[in-house]
Amino acid sequence: MPNIIVHKNGQAHSGEVKENTNLVVRAGIKQFPYPNLSYRCGMGKCGKCTSRIIAGGEHLPEPNWKEKKLLGNRLDLGYRLICQLWINHDLELSQDDLVPAAAATTPDAPPCT
Ligand code: FES
Repeated sequence: MPNIIVHKNGQAHSGEVKENTNLVVRAGIKQFPYPNLSYRCGMGKCGKCTSRIIAGGEHLPEPNWKEKKLLGNRLDLGYRLICQLWINHDLELSQDDLVPAAAATTPDAPPCT
């Protein structure tokens, strides 16, 4: 069974899930990683479930069009929409210190003065 580690608010939360599990669906029925996973729509529209994959990303499928639309070049930083993923392998992710979309699209922008 996949072992999941979720970093949230400076803490690590871990648990095992069945194969082919969607973590947002689980959180919706108040199973791990509830209440330590941020999400809202569950449909790839709001971006609230955005997470940075720390380990295990090589086992995930290619980002779908919703992830590409919402995450843009943050995909290159290892960001994924957790609601769009069905997990079959160990995975470690973080919802701490995420780069906002605007910052990720202009990494070389000069600082505000
Ligand atoms: S929960 Fe809204 S995009 Fe994932």
